[in-house]
Amino acid sequence: MSKRFYVTTAIDYVNGQPHLGHAYEKIIADVIARTRRSLGQEVFFLTGLDEHGQKVQQAAVAEAKTPQAYCDDLAVIWKAFAAKLDLTNDDFVRTTEPRHKQVVQAILSKLHAEGHFYKEVYRGFYSTREETFLTHKDRRPDGTFDPAWGQVIELDEENYYFRLKDHQQWLIDYIEQNPSFVAPAYRRNEVLGFLKNNVLEDLCISRPAARLNWGIPLPFDPNFVTYVWFDALSNYITIPAAQGDPGVPKALCPQPTTLNPPLALWPADIHLVGKDILKFHAVYWPIMLKAMGAPLPKQVLAHGWWQKDGQRMSKSTGNVVDPVAVIDEWGVDAFRFYVLRELDIGPDGNWTEASFKARYSAELANGLGNLVNRSLSMLKRYRNGVVPQRSDELKTTTEEIILPTLESLRINELQAALQWIWQLVGRANQYVDHTAPFKLAKDTAKAERLDEVLYNLAEVCRILAVLLWPFLPGTATRINAQLGLPGSPDKFSQARWGGLPAGHTIGTPAPLFPRKER
Ligand code: MSP
Repeated sequence: MSKRFYVTTAIDYVNGQPHLGHAYEKIIADVIARTRRSLGQEVFFLTGLDEHGQKVQQAAVAEAKTPQAYCDDLAVIWKAFAAKLDLTNDDFVRTTEPRHKQVVQAILSKLHAEGHFYKEVYRGFYSTREETFLTHKDRRPDGTFDPAWGQVIELDEENYYFRLKDHQQWLIDYIEQNPSFVAPAYRRNEVLGFLKNNVLEDLCISRPAARLNWGIPLPFDPNFVTYVWFDALSNYITIPAAQGDPGVPKALCPQPTTLNPPLALWPADIHLVGKDILKFHAVYWPIMLKAMGAPLPKQVLAHGWWQKDGQRMSKSTGNVVDPVAVIDEWGVDAFRFYVLRELDIGPDGNWTEASFKARYSAELANGLGNLVNRSLSMLKRYRNGVVPQRSDELKTTTEEIILPTLESLRINELQAALQWIWQLVGRANQYVDHTAPFKLAKDTAKAERLDEVLYNLAEVCRILAVLLWPFLPGTATRINAQLGLPGSPDKFSQARWGGLPAGHTIGTPAPLFPRKER
């Protein structure tokens, strides 16, 4: 039994509609998952929904629904969204599912029994909107709280606390000794800076059920439910644990696995998250896991945030990008391409319609689309679609691109991989211009030369489909079909020059990215 490559995304808050930021993260995870599968690894890709907490409870009340009915209705939309993005997630976790709740309770019981929690009264200022206690640092110079916090009330509350600060030095040492645990490197430095310059506060892991009952009850005290972040972070391990993963401590697995061989996922290879929730994943989560006695994930990979037209996206100002509308108009691959090509994993990005259209037109329609369409159309027209004898004229050029593309993909440099792939698109388009097959076709004495050119172009198209598969799966499959090849080009081992056999008849060429006159 071999461990699968296990990649996760943040689980989105169920209240509200999916937007560009959610889509971006899930697409990155999907490209990583597809890449690993194409490299021949077994993969498990998990995404899902964060469904407990005060905001959900309030939103449900506002719609006169039970919180569960409210979540069930929205989960349909979010699952459809995952399909719309062409995600290949192997599972979809909802934190209201029994399989998740059962393991969260097992975690809480174990940690409680081992003395990681204590109960204490806390008196402080509480933001009802943000469901959080505020500290003196949150006060403005005049002593008031920013209206963004909504109503701020004084609250006296008994709760359970997790002894986080006991593990502070251990975590600093761990991150220093495991430099790839948090990526990119500047995010790791941020986490280390935070840990070295602040004394960690113990983490409040409960909410009184009298104030909030939409949560997982603490198994050792029914007057409390679990703090939503403790609940949500646990999803990464509850799903493996629910299946009896051999990498998860036995005390957390509700029953031994019935799968043969067992599904070995834990520890996760990559937790992909936005920069805003890095502290939860790089500070709280590793300490929680250490307390559980579970191995730590290999990496927390933090991506940046999208703005639109240089401003924070916000529903109230209408400044949002609706991924579904963009996909309906331009196709899912155009959307996937833009977000991955425009923004590397790490920095912040800015969506503008002009730059989306410019990339669509230059790189997709005139770049890739034009190359594939003219290459295959000429093969159809001049050779009746029959692949000529193998020729190796573009072999070296292509191999010089395949290598760094795969290297970039192995280290999750997705933007760099796309840049390499488009170098091949550019060179092949230049090759068409230089060799001018449309002229060669007019001279029967040049038939052999035309054969060479047509072979090289068709073979580049085939290899491009293989390299593009993780990014643009629909387009890659269409290129394959137009080449008359069965199935999907979903194994990088197919990216070897000479795979297209002489005598093979291709399918029907058709534009991949229709030009839009707008
Ligand atoms: N529910 C928590 C995560 C719990 S994970 C155990 C949450 N949900 S969220 O819906 O607010 O955000 C989900 C993910 O989307 C986060 O990783 C967040 O960074 C990402 N994004 C939300 N808005 C974004 C942008 N504008 N740009 C890029 N990603 C952003 O946090």
